[in-house]
Parts: sequence; structure tokens; C-alpha cells
Amino acid sequence: MAQQVRAVIAKAKGEPVSIETIEVPDPGPGEALVAVQACGVCHTDLHYREGAINDEFPFLLGHEAAGVVEAVGDDVTGVAPGDFVILNWRAVCGNCRACLRGRPWYCFATHNATQKMTLDGQELSPALGIGAFAEKTLVAAGQATKVNPEAQPEVAGLIGCGVMAGLGAAMNTGGVGRGDSVAVFGCGGVGDAAIEGSRLAGAHTIIAVDIDDTKLEWAREFGATHTINSTREDPVERIRELTGGHGVDVAIEAIGLPQTYEQAFYARDLAGVVVLVGVPNPEMRIELPMIEIFGRGGVLKSSWYGDCLPSRDFPMLIDLYLQGRLNLERFVSETISLEGVEEAFHAMERGEVLRSVVVV
Ligand code: APR
Ligand code: ZN
Ligand code: ZN
Repeated sequence: MAQQVRAVIAKAKGEPVSIETIEVPDPGPGEALVAVQACGVCHTDLHYREGAINDEFPFLLGHEAAGVVEAVGDDVTGVAPGDFVILNWRAVCGNCRACLRGRPWYCFATHNATQKMTLDGQELSPALGIGAFAEKTLVAAGQATKVNPEAQPEVAGLIGCGVMAGLGAAMNTGGVGRGDSVAVFGCGGVGDAAIEGSRLAGAHTIIAVDIDDTKLEWAREFGATHTINSTREDPVERIRELTGGHGVDVAIEAIGLPQTYEQAFYARDLAGVVVLVGVPNPEMRIELPMIEIFGRGGVLKSSWYGDCLPSRDFPMLIDLYLQGRLNLERFVSETISLEGVEEAFHAMERGEVLRSVVVV
């Protein structure tokens, strides 16, 4: 029987979110009902509320979550009631041209639950196909990845979005390896996770660039070996100085701005890698001399969701965390209730937090 649960809803563009009672159907074929335990507040949730993603209001926000499977559809075999899971917004299809070529982390046909959750009979649009600022949510079974239940939910959920994006930008997209030098532009949750991922992958020089000294202090806690405040010094020149005049092997842009992308482009060594994980807006443009693109060689890449494969990466990262090798707790700036989401958006806008995490 469908259940009534409390949830955070964005009803109209730019309006504060509200707590509503929504209806969640029983799982049908291919679906799983998950009792949410924790869900991080991500920029994307705010972008939905601001109407910057699309106009399909009302939105059920939240997408960076961990919880316990309560029920599954008849045909579901991958997860079972009682499993501790992290939700992902890339349930690989297995059949698209990316999947068929053996590159499922690029899956072009990811899927969500078929049935809709509703508010007073009106269909809700769940953020990134998840909608986890709710006591319970309905997802496609492939969106729930089983991990070791010893991990705290408020920490585990972070792997579902921002932290995975940053870790993966370094470890998967950038291919950071032992002895590499790395520069990370922007030290929010995503950039700090890229720093953490670079450390874990064995980078020996990790240079953090930001315009905020507090963020740079935090970046050191994650493993930055050097920091640059780019309001006070030219980051490209300073990065060259710190790397014997050459530039870094991997430059990661974790903001989504033309000027910092250009800094990343010029801060890398010959044959180096530039990774764009920050999300630009549609109006942004960059201009680069084409000869520099050719002459520097190497690769310019974008990182979607850290190019992660949830089934491969989520359990592995949680195991590393439980072994004390991955510092996930430091990303949790505060834990809040569902009622605290609106205020958490403001704290995020003021740059005060890495992550506010709703504990349900
Ligand atoms: N130069 C250097 N650092 C900058 C600049 C700049 N011009 N402008 C902003 N920053 C810094 C901020 O001070 C902050 O520390 O970039 C950081 C951005 O962090 P957050 O706003 O917390 O964003 P985060 O959650 O880390 O996401 C970063 O990745 O996935 C995307 O959509 C996400 O585009 C966003 C980016
Ligand atoms: Zn696919
Ligand atoms: Zn997110």
C-alpha cells in the first residue's frame, strides 16, 4: 500500500522549500523503496529550487543519500530488504552504446523509478531522479548500491554525489597516480574531494587554489601540500615555481568558471591532463590559442559524476573509509533535520560549509 511520508519540496521558482506529506507507491518491477537515513545538501538541489535545471515543479529535493532498503519489486535481485545502500544517479542500463562498448561509467541511458511519487495527486520531479530529502523514496533498484553497513549514513551518503565527483575527477578521470603533481582549483566539497582522491592515489605534490584562506586551510587537512590564494598571487606562475618550472601533471577545475579553467589549462605540464568537474553555465565561453592546445599535447577532459561506476566504486570507497584511509567525516560540516534544508542553502551560499547533511 502506498505510504505517506514527510519530504522537502520546492513548489515554485525561487521560493523557500517547505515540508510536505507526499505519497510514495509500493515498489513495482525494477524498483526499490528506501528508508532514507541521511542526505547531503548539494548545490544542484538549490539549482532545482531556483529553476535553473528545468521548470518541472514541484521538485522533491535531495540526491546525496544513504539508507536501508525497505521493499523491492518482484523481479529485483540486486538488492534486498535490509540492505544498507548508497543512492546513485547513474543506474547503468547495460544496453546503450556506452555500456555495450564496455564503458558503463559513461552510460547514456541511465534510469529512474517508473512510478511517480505525488503531492496531493500531483506528480513530483525527484532531484536527479532520486528525491531523498524524505523519510522514504522510490528509486530504480539499480540506483541503490549495497555497501558495508558499519559506515555511518551521514558519511556514506556523501559518496552519492559531490564527494564522488571530486574523488573520481582525480582517481578516475584524471588518472592521478603515484608521484604525480596535481593542482586543484576551487576547494569546496568537490575540490577537497579531488585533493583527498589525489592523496589516496599517491600524488606527491597537491596544490590547492582558492580565493578564500579558510578554504585553503581546510584543503590542507585533506592533503594539500601547498596552497595558493589566487587573489594575492598568480596561480599559474606559482604552480610553475612549485613544480620546477614545468606545471602539474593533472590540473583539476572544481568551480566551473572560464578564468579558472584557463588557469588550469596553463598550469599543467606538457602532455598533462586538464579535468573539468566544476559545472559551467550555458553562457560561459573560453578562448584559447589553438596552437597551445596542440603544442601542449595531453588531454582536456570533463568528469561526469567522477566517471564513477557505483557498483565498483561505492563499496570500495566505503571500505577504504572504514579502514581509516579515506577522510570522509571531515566533509560533514553539520547535521540537520529536514526542516533545516532552507537554512542550509543559505549557509552554502555564504560558503560556510562543505556539506550540511540531513539526518532523517
Ligand atoms: N578562483 C578560485 N577559487 C574560487 C573562485 C575563483 N575565481 N571562485 C570561487 N572559488 C572557490 C570558492 O571559494 C569555494 O571554495 O571555489 C570553491 C567552490 O566551492 P563550493 O561553492 O562549495 O562548490 P562545490 O560543492 O565544491 O562544487 C564545485 O563542482 O560539481 C560541481 O556544481 C558543482 O560547479 C560546482 C563545482
Ligand atoms: Zn547504458
Ligand atoms: Zn549533487
